[in-house]
Amino acid sequence: MNRVLGIETSCDETAIAVYDAVGGVLSHQIHSQIPLHAEYGGVVPELASRDHVRKIMPLIDKTLSDASLPPGSIEGVAYTRGPGLIGALMVGASVARSLAYAWQVPALGIHHIEAHLMAVLLEDDPPAYPFVTLIVSGGHTLLAHVTGLGQYELLGETLDDAVGEAFDKTAKLLGLPYPGGPSLAKLATQGDPDRYHFPRPMVNRPGLDFSFSGIKTHAVSVVSSAATDQQTQADIACAFEVAVVDTLMIKCRRALLQTGSQRLVVAGGVSANQRLRQALSTQLSSMNVQVYFPRLEYCTDNGAMVAWTGYLRLSQGEHDDLSIRPCARWPLYDLSPPSS
Ligand code: KG4
Ligand code: ZN
Repeated sequence: MNRVLGIETSCDETAIAVYDAVGGVLSHQIHSQIPLHAEYGGVVPELASRDHVRKIMPLIDKTLSDASLPPGSIEGVAYTRGPGLIGALMVGASVARSLAYAWQVPALGIHHIEAHLMAVLLEDDPPAYPFVTLIVSGGHTLLAHVTGLGQYELLGETLDDAVGEAFDKTAKLLGLPYPGGPSLAKLATQGDPDRYHFPRPMVNRPGLDFSFSGIKTHAVSVVSSAATDQQTQADIACAFEVAVVDTLMIKCRRALLQTGSQRLVVAGGVSANQRLRQALSTQLSSMNVQVYFPRLEYCTDNGAMVAWTGYLRLSQGEHDDLSIRPCARWPLYDLSPPSS
């Protein structure tokens, strides 16, 4: 197994890539649905599915032609099986399974969060196992101890909102455009971090679980009583972001002490956040901890992470049967190492 096509359609991006054992990521393409969902202020699942149907085949053609690859050179097809929006997942899964059948190659459904996590291993100087991972995406926030591919011990997770969700909801309160996380982060760069103070939820309790709904509720009360000028909005955005980063930092430190690990891998869409990247890298260096992030284009949803994770598992002989079974919900810790 040397060359894998990866298909990602779990939410609002149609993303395709080819991973090659010798050349690495040969091509990766993303079609973003942001303009489609922007007027609704969030992802509309039915519109997402329909757009994946429209875009997926032309994007696969473009990915193959950009890398000058004939379809016959693909040796395996990997697709995001879950978690995600069920209609959107179904599009990628059906196309992947059909192409694999037509090309007579194996197909494999990939866990979206495992793919986010594995993205860091595409970088030069990747971390050795074991390591601690902080996953921060639109739907997930968790800490896990990782001893190998498919070997995840959950250390803690959010009891309510995911970090990305908290960013998106607070951005919406501030009247910022969808997708909220990057818009809020941009505004926060102009803010004064000391004008407002947001809570750091659950940091005084033992354990590694998170809760972000309190920060969001605090945002509601601050925004409703504050002025609406640009500087005030930036100050609120900044205080929110600082509180979130601080909360994540406290729990990461605790997880590293608990496991004795000196490596932290940060993955998922919010790992693109500059304040988080900077704070973790600088503040954890005093603990002799090395922090690893994917490059920015592999932090948010992309096809390269799916093709690569597919390659890691397919090359060990793992593959699916002919059935198509997308999973809207699928806990990371249900995964196992590759099985042939
Ligand atoms: O991993 P991802 O692309 O999709 C999911 O699997 O959920 O993560 C998307 C989330 C969204 O909530 C988005 O607002 C957030 O990641 N995000 C950010 C940034 N870039 C993306 N949040 C804060 N700062 C950013 N720079
Ligand atoms: Zn994602």
